Amino acid sequence: MATFFSFIRAMANLKAFIRTGQAGDGREKALLDHVLQTAEKGNPQSVLEAIDSYSRRTSWLMNIGDDKGPFLDSALGKYNPRVALEIGTYCGYSAVRIASKMQKSGSKLLAVEMSPLNCQIATQIIDHAGLSSKVRVVEGKFDERLDAVKQFLEEMDAPFFDFVFLDHWKDRYMPDYLLLKENGMIRKGSGIFADNMGPVLGPADFKKYIKTHPEELETEEFKSNAEYMRWMPDSVCVSTYNLD
Ligand SMILES: C[S@@+](CC[C@H](N)C(=O)[O-])C[C@H]1O[C@@H](n2cnc3c(N)ncnc32)[C@H](O)[C@@H]1O
Repeated sequence: MATFFSFIRAMANLKAFIRTGQAGDGREKALLDHVLQTAEKGNPQSVLEAIDSYSRRTSWLMNIGDDKGPFLDSALGKYNPRVALEIGTYCGYSAVRIASKMQKSGSKLLAVEMSPLNCQIATQIIDHAGLSSKVRVVEGKFDERLDAVKQFLEEMDAPFFDFVFLDHWKDRYMPDYLLLKENGMIRKGSGIFADNMGPVLGPADFKKYIKTHPEELETEEFKSNAEYMRWMPDSVCVSTYNLD
């Protein structure tokens, strides 16, 4: 019940939430303090558990969370990426989850986040998890930071991303997916993991595109619920990009 009211409080100021990427009551900074005080330094699992427990008991946060997180873990096992991209980092929960599961030597995640405050919080949380060397946080909107994305790929000596996690504002899934495709940043075999593809939150245009382009995106949908709210249905889509 506490999570429900906390979710409603965050949604009450939706315009500001969408503009700033923060709920407006300082919960994201309070989460950072909670993680620094309660999670074991250098232990990603301990950091994830601290964030999940805060998000269930204190304030709702829009992390992928512990209900849908296992689908992300499985996808990482399947694609085993060396070079990965996340669009929408928030406080760093998924970045910690992804980077801690990237097994290849020299593997690295590029985490793009539009909010400067979220970037600061995520950077400290990733550092507390001991994963700074595996994650680069880039501040800005994805479509405005293609320069930094290209530079990252060059530095990684990688022509494209093996794995992409889409978890930013839903109206940007479609245009940013097309940007990735047009810029050759995904290639045959790349995995695309999209959060919030369910009936309530899902982006209609991207859902329709996946349905109508099965030869391009071979997709499996996994049904679950929205983060920390078992009463709201949600799902994730895991797609393999299949064009040459
Ligand atoms: C749902 S949260 C991300 C949660 C995070 N992936 C996790 O699971 O821990 C969405 C985030 O996307 C950011 N965002 C929204 N539009 C963006 C864009 N075009 N480029 C980069 N970040 C964006 C917001 O500021 C917000 O922090």
